[in-house]
Amino acid sequence: MAQPCGCVSPGDGPRAAEPFILVIFGASGDLTHRKLVPALYGLLHDGLLPERFAVVGYARREKSDDAFRNELRAATEAHSRLRPVRDDLWARLAGRIFYQQGDYADRASFLRLAERLQSVGREGRIPGNHLFYLATPPEVVAGIVESLRETGLSRRGETGRPWARLIAEKPFGRDRDSARALDALIHRGFIEDQVFRIDHYLGKETVQNILVFRFANSLFEPLWNQKYVDHVQITVAETLGMEGRGPFFDQAGALRDVVQNHMMQLLALVAMEPAMGLDAASVRNEKVKVLRSLRPMDRACAERSLVIGQYGRGAVGGKVVPAYREEQGVAPGSTTETFVAFKAWIDNWRWADVPFYLRTGKRLAERVTEVAIHFKGVPRVLFNRESAQPLPPNVLTLRIQPDEGVSLRFQVKTPGQVATLCPHQMDFSYRKSFGTEPPEAYERLLLDAALGDAALFIRNDEVDAAWRFVGPLLAGCHEGGERRLHAYAAGTWGPEAAEELLERDGRAWQTTGTRAE
Ligand code: BG6
Repeated sequence: MAQPCGCVSPGDGPRAAEPFILVIFGASGDLTHRKLVPALYGLLHDGLLPERFAVVGYARREKSDDAFRNELRAATEAHSRLRPVRDDLWARLAGRIFYQQGDYADRASFLRLAERLQSVGREGRIPGNHLFYLATPPEVVAGIVESLRETGLSRRGETGRPWARLIAEKPFGRDRDSARALDALIHRGFIEDQVFRIDHYLGKETVQNILVFRFANSLFEPLWNQKYVDHVQITVAETLGMEGRGPFFDQAGALRDVVQNHMMQLLALVAMEPAMGLDAASVRNEKVKVLRSLRPMDRACAERSLVIGQYGRGAVGGKVVPAYREEQGVAPGSTTETFVAFKAWIDNWRWADVPFYLRTGKRLAERVTEVAIHFKGVPRVLFNRESAQPLPPNVLTLRIQPDEGVSLRFQVKTPGQVATLCPHQMDFSYRKSFGTEPPEAYERLLLDAALGDAALFIRNDEVDAAWRFVGPLLAGCHEGGERRLHAYAAGTWGPEAAEELLERDGRAWQTTGTRAE
């Protein structure tokens, strides 16, 4: 459908979900309050929820429907992108929200849940379409999934209707074996088509734009390979520390928390081949090929190509912040990594010999997530012949957040009689061009799951391939039983060793000096 501005929408406008009941396990938790209910409010605001839908929150604490609604209103006031919350809209949402108390591995509780779903469905004239959301800590997931199976709630109707779907939050296991075990457990009750594994990065507009940018423009794709690309940098830098998540993070670490999922997905989207279509199977088939082509790191390689670090005290945004080991819920002698940088290789035709440098960390100097494609330099024939320095190469930066956009660095001649060159930047900014805030990632993902569209969710073979690569990285963090942990001060760009990782290859991280203004 062509629109006046020249924008083209491949579909037929907004998509409509069938009536459904969203069941949130872990209804008292952070995710429900900070993300899920504000996302539902956003969807309702934008007219994207069906007329008939309901939300049943499930958790262990005793609570009335009204108490639950009130706490969700306060959470939505605090976290929605659309503030202040409109009374009329909230009243519509609140009228469809219910609370059910129960244990997570208790058949009797789940039988009561099944009855409640029936009565909510009857009253709201909602056929038995159920979207089960696992917003709980990982240790209770097995009990929930088994209980759903035992009580028949996971069952798919003969014709596929009414449907039952399961949304699973990361972490997907702690390693390859535990991820496989979790998968086997889920598959006792649900077939893969019913399982929607969330990585909220895939719901970000700018992450989706990676495929649009690559495959809806003819200019860049011919250059997107080892012939023209020198190297690729992927940065997921955060200024935040633990924010109350110390106990969880101390068990996970940055490799499990961010690298295994968000960074592997970014890498897959940047490196994949064009898919046959935008459907779930086609896109995921291509992503998994990339993940399987990642060269596993052996111990010797990890010594050279992997840096882990942990922040000490420092200052972020002018504020003094504590060291990681002083954060609430973190063991005083913890050796958990809050920073990771490494060099990866994709052993396929397109990317042979192109290094991918990835880094992520907490309490870094700046909050920025970006992918930077550094192109090869020009032959030194016309310019800079005598200089020791080559011309700064072209760099294409996909800024995922904040200041979402795309920029291209290129050389220009400065005005004057002599040929002095300097790098300049062409910038596209979402905010400047569209003037609106993009919807939250969870809005898109909740709607897609309700629609049964799994393209932005992770398939089990992707999880497995990501663990295949990340497992050796986890092992590579140790040397002779000791963790090879580098210290860095909060508010910096991480340990020196991360700079050296690129310096050794004659390169530098983009955000530490080479980013063109
Ligand atoms: C989560 C991690 O998945 O992603 C957090 O558990 C991290 O540790 C967060 O802070 C980053 O997400 P975003 O959307 O803020 O970049």
